[in-house]
Amino acid sequence: MRRLFGFILLLFITGVFAFSQKSGGMWIPTELNEKEMKELGLQISVSDIFNTTRPSIKDAIVQFGGGCTGEVISPRGLVLTNHHCGYGEIQSHSSVDNDLLTNGFWAKNNKEELPNPDLSVTFVTEIHNVTQAVFANTANLSGAETQKVIEKNIEELKKDFPKKSYQHIVVKPMYADNQYYAFVSETYRDIRLVGAPPQSIGKFGSDTDNWVWPRHTGDFALFRIYANKNNEPADYSEDNVPFIPKHYLPISVKELKEGDFTFIFGYPGRTSEYLPSIAIEQIINDLNPVRIAIRDITLKTLDEKMRQDNATRIKYAAKYAGISNAWKKWQGESKGLKRSNAVAKREKYENELADKNPEIKSILADFRRLYAEQKPYAVNNALWGELSRNSETFYLAALFNRISQMQANGSLTKDKSDELKAEIRQIYKDYDKTLDAKVTAKIISYYIAQLPKQFLPLDYAKYTDENRNLSLFEKWNKKSMVTNNYNDLDKIFADTQKLANSIKKDPFVIFYNNLLEAYNANVNEKYRGIQEQINGLQKSYMALQMATDKEKVFFPDANFTLRVSYGQVHGSKPADGVEYSYQTTLDGVVEKYIPDDYEFDVPQKLLDIYHKQDFVPYTNAQGKVPVAFTATNHTTGGNSGSPALDAQGNLIGLNFDRQWEGTMSDIYFDPELCRNIMVDARYILFIIDKFADADWLLDELTIVK
Ligand code: ARG
Ligand code: GLU
Repeated sequence: MRRLFGFILLLFITGVFAFSQKSGGMWIPTELNEKEMKELGLQISVSDIFNTTRPSIKDAIVQFGGGCTGEVISPRGLVLTNHHCGYGEIQSHSSVDNDLLTNGFWAKNNKEELPNPDLSVTFVTEIHNVTQAVFANTANLSGAETQKVIEKNIEELKKDFPKKSYQHIVVKPMYADNQYYAFVSETYRDIRLVGAPPQSIGKFGSDTDNWVWPRHTGDFALFRIYANKNNEPADYSEDNVPFIPKHYLPISVKELKEGDFTFIFGYPGRTSEYLPSIAIEQIINDLNPVRIAIRDITLKTLDEKMRQDNATRIKYAAKYAGISNAWKKWQGESKGLKRSNAVAKREKYENELADKNPEIKSILADFRRLYAEQKPYAVNNALWGELSRNSETFYLAALFNRISQMQANGSLTKDKSDELKAEIRQIYKDYDKTLDAKVTAKIISYYIAQLPKQFLPLDYAKYTDENRNLSLFEKWNKKSMVTNNYNDLDKIFADTQKLANSIKKDPFVIFYNNLLEAYNANVNEKYRGIQEQINGLQKSYMALQMATDKEKVFFPDANFTLRVSYGQVHGSKPADGVEYSYQTTLDGVVEKYIPDDYEFDVPQKLLDIYHKQDFVPYTNAQGKVPVAFTATNHTTGGNSGSPALDAQGNLIGLNFDRQWEGTMSDIYFDPELCRNIMVDARYILFIIDKFADADWLLDELTIVK
């Protein structure tokens, strides 16, 4: 009897522990994998997560500013997101004298909240699978014709969809264009900054700790949605009032344990989970290395001056963070793909599929041929993208070039001019032409060195040496209109013909055009042609995978639409001899503290609180303040600011990053290595309460004990 009991107990224990998720997934909220979610610990129903007939959790989730996620956490429209998602706004309210990045910002009442003209948040109210309507009348059409009919069908569908005046419809392809979904959404445009910790909390560890676990960053900021008197979206106005949400998230300060269920609700941007192995190989061996190299050069050049000069540091802060972010991710991605043997494992899976379905065999052969043919063009394409992004001078040259082209073909309307002017002003605001000349001089010589000569402009040999480039660009800088940061753009735009004439003579524009022409003629067309064929293949391959592998539950790749990922709180063993626990605490902040360091300084007030041990009630079972934790949720860029919710739908954390060893999850999710990183909700409350003394904000929140 005792033996039998022991045996059953053993079964029970292994049964409980053995059930961990098999793979990742970013699920459309109307098609959740409820069975697995429940097995992993979800206690509410999926209809509490997404519902169109009564308030549900989705009514608290917003796409924040286009690239991030945020969530409503109070009945007065208070929105929580990451510090790094509000970074541009915090920076834009900062100057050397009033440096909100360094000092933080806490409005003391609604009046002190700061408006942000370019910021908006979007709620989704409905999701519909509209595949049939989108594919109507496309049977037996050729590829190009099909595309035209699809576009027409989408336009009609959008027109006919019942909606309120302030709603809009977005139709997005899923499963590599095999299905289409319509999202009804509402965008609020008056969003104000309410609070942000100093970056020594909100960006603690900065680029050194970015993508890294163990982590100690309080990466959060608070905003508020304002609406008109009818609670509808409106342009900024002093008369607007705090928005009243259908639902807001209660915040839990309960103990968090290894294995606890959690889910993430937000807007993952891009993943490629269904690529053939040959594509993964190319990313590791050919594309990531050149992208990383260009950014290496750019970052080193910027860093030198940012460290010497405070004004440059502020000007380039957001740009630097952006460039370094993907730079570091790609390095982790390549490493993780290698470590988890992603290519070999994917090949094995391909062979199994091909054995079951001969059609897949021939598709895989086509993939191999096309990727090989595309490789040199793909490398150039990656480099070109980096060149145009990292050189602000080229970015400006491209913009001005557009102006002169539009003038020539008569499309430079007054509105267009205003738009372009605004865009140029935005760049000039944080632009240092001497510094950028250095970046440009270096990366152009790298670009030339990497490419087959027949891809380059005829006179490429003049630009191979970075020092020579720099003295040339400095000379050009003296007369160029593109880099000359005109305060009076209105004046130069007054006569657009004259403007277009001077643009055509600008040395940077001429240089940029030569490069662009060579790229277009020798690379771009070829690259795109092959890419179109690859996309077509990927569509068939996706459909065939779904038809052939009956055991797997498929989710569509991320595409900036609303998704749910789920998993459990877990640490990890990312390398031989290394074991990470799932949680960090304030102790670690103090351990990492380096006085006056630009990344690891800690505000004196936080140190004082730490030494007084004034922590209650924001402690874990050991009496420490938890700062961050990891779980097995499958997330990607765009999920920043997404709420981490518990089995009951309470907010327990704020997603802001992934663990470096697992950043390959965009391509290959490995539950052993991939972890998302969240700020613990208790740390957020602790900072608002003890550090910022912002009681008026705490009073708005619902805390679950
Ligand atoms: N790695 C995070 C994400 O992908 C945080 C980025 C912001 N922080 C930074 N140091 N650049 O967006
Ligand atoms: N930091 C990322 C973002 O801005 C989220 C982390 C990730 O890529 O997983 O969206």
